[in-house]
Amino acid sequence: MTKTQTFGIASLGVHLPPLAMKVEELAELRGVDPNKFTRGLGCREIALCPEGFDVVDLATEAARRALSRWDGKLEDIGLLAVGTETAVDMSRPLGAFVASNLGLSGNIRSYEVKHACYGGSVALRQALEWKLSGVSKGKAALVIAADVSLYAPKDPGEPTQGAGAVAMIVDAPTICAIDADTFAYSEPQLDFWRPVGEAYPRVDGPLSLDCYMRGAEHCFRQFIGERDAKAAFAELSDICFHVPFPKMVKKALVHTATALGLSEAETATLYEQKVEPTMRLNQRVGNCYTAALWLSVAHTLAGKDEGARLATFSYGSGFGTELFGLTAGPGAKAAAWMTDVETDLKDRRLIDGAEYERLREANVPAH
Ligand code: COA
Repeated sequence: MTKTQTFGIASLGVHLPPLAMKVEELAELRGVDPNKFTRGLGCREIALCPEGFDVVDLATEAARRALSRWDGKLEDIGLLAVGTETAVDMSRPLGAFVASNLGLSGNIRSYEVKHACYGGSVALRQALEWKLSGVSKGKAALVIAADVSLYAPKDPGEPTQGAGAVAMIVDAPTICAIDADTFAYSEPQLDFWRPVGEAYPRVDGPLSLDCYMRGAEHCFRQFIGERDAKAAFAELSDICFHVPFPKMVKKALVHTATALGLSEAETATLYEQKVEPTMRLNQRVGNCYTAALWLSVAHTLAGKDEGARLATFSYGSGFGTELFGLTAGPGAKAAAWMTDVETDLKDRRLIDGAEYERLREANVPAH
């Protein structure tokens, strides 16, 4: 059993970029059957940044939104941790750029966390554990997960691209409590990496899938412990995963549930009821690395009754995984943060293949 929770997410802010493209447009551009991207990978749209708009803009606006809905003040922030793999500087943390935009300075511990897509979750755990340790002196933490995912043009990963940011204020468990108990597993592997000086990542797709599935099984085995797996899953309203693309999540769920003894029919039901619905927003955004899991959580918590239990599975290549539970708080039902998500989705412009090609030529990421 998990321990009684005291701290969690007090406020949430999400920001999505102003452009997007349907994956069918990309399929046409690359001469690929669109069913490969839609049915084969489970993707629908990829979020894209226009020229002059970057990860700092995404992170800053997500933080502004989280702060604007919080009943605390800027002076109440004592920790700023940003998880990202879209570095804009090899030394200066992304948080310094965000803090400069927000006018945030003072007695604050501020740093960046890098562990591929796992960085945002590590930042969140550190913020929670900082609160639980008692050294926060009553201050709150501002945690941001923000990334722009771009592969080299024509790379097989291109239909999984995306961008987005999620900011979370860690303090009172108004939106959700975060379990103190947590279950991690890691192995040194070379499944996805971006060498210094290169603009785009390199991926060993089959190895990445294998690591993701293995990490999920190890984490869920620890989470379930001596309990009956079916009964443990029944206690959860939803299971949110890091979402590189939905098919990868489905494969990991099937692998894990089967390894834990669920039948084919039970696994299919578990996926349809508790996993597939958590990825609906991710399907319209694409992989936003550190933010992908937290985007799924933001979407899934919206409208939940107080007390609903969610499991969250983090994955970061290299590789590190972690699983922990959340309990919906009184602020989940009203889901104030979703108005921004709806506005961003409504206001963003869908581009075609020709504009995408121009954008990619003009917008080569910094090394
Ligand atoms: N209609 C329907 N489905 C089709 C299809 C078609 N015409 N053509 C292919 N597919 C299916 C394939 O069967 C496969 O599904 P399956 O795995 O269930 O069998 C899926 O589409 C992908 O096809 P595949 O040939 O494996 O794609 P690929 O070799 O081009 O690889 C990725 C594409 C995205 C899977 C690969 O680049 C990858 O794994 N990248 C990223 C990995 C990652 O993100 N790691 C984690 C970082 S956090």
